Amino acid sequence: MTTDFTKILEAAPVVPLVKADDPTIAVKTSRALAAGGLTVVEVVFRTDRALECLKAVADEVPEMIAGAGTVLSTSQAEAAFDAGARFIVSPGLDDGVVAVAKQRGAPVYPGIVTPSELQHAYNLGLNVVKFFPATIAGGIPALKALSSVFRTMRFMPTGGVSADNLEDFLKLPAVLACGGSWLTPADAIASDNYDKITALAAEALKIAARARGNQ
Ligand code: 3PG
Repeated sequence: MTTDFTKILEAAPVVPLVKADDPTIAVKTSRALAAGGLTVVEVVFRTDRALECLKAVADEVPEMIAGAGTVLSTSQAEAAFDAGARFIVSPGLDDGVVAVAKQRGAPVYPGIVTPSELQHAYNLGLNVVKFFPATIAGGIPALKALSSVFRTMRFMPTGGVSADNLEDFLKLPAVLACGGSWLTPADAIASDNYDKITALAAEALKIAARARGNQ
């Protein structure tokens, strides 16, 4: 099945990060995000059981498109796809990881900051990249400068994005979507407050609609 990720991200331009060490929690968190209207989730490889968490979300939350985040190596990328990942996100740009995704026919969003990294991504045939860490790496002014040169490139700013600055990022035409962990706060998960996560997801979509002039 082919999926037009650009269209999906344009419709709900927010990619929440799920960091869990327990598949049950990853599933509950992803369901809570889906209940708030989000359609894509990035399960990050930052815990010992991240792969199991990804597999559980891919298998048990069909309403969500699950991808793997913080993918650092080709072996992690292969394992992620074998576990059901539909896309890959990396903090940096690695040719091997990009090649694995291409071989699997799946999107890959590597992190870039500099014009050289972006040019490298462009020449690998990518047209969407993560911009990470977004706020530290120059935020909106940096994105404006980069997108004026790389006119066809779309960006996924992540790192320091929150409900407070989401609208400003999404107002930039070059920004396809924003990612972040603000939608899945550790304290809400620890206190079993999944309604809070659903509310944060719904709030993010409202902000996105405003930014895109749909509301
Ligand atoms: C990432 O992996 O994309 C970042 O760690 C997310 O940054 P945030 O926690 O500031 O959203």
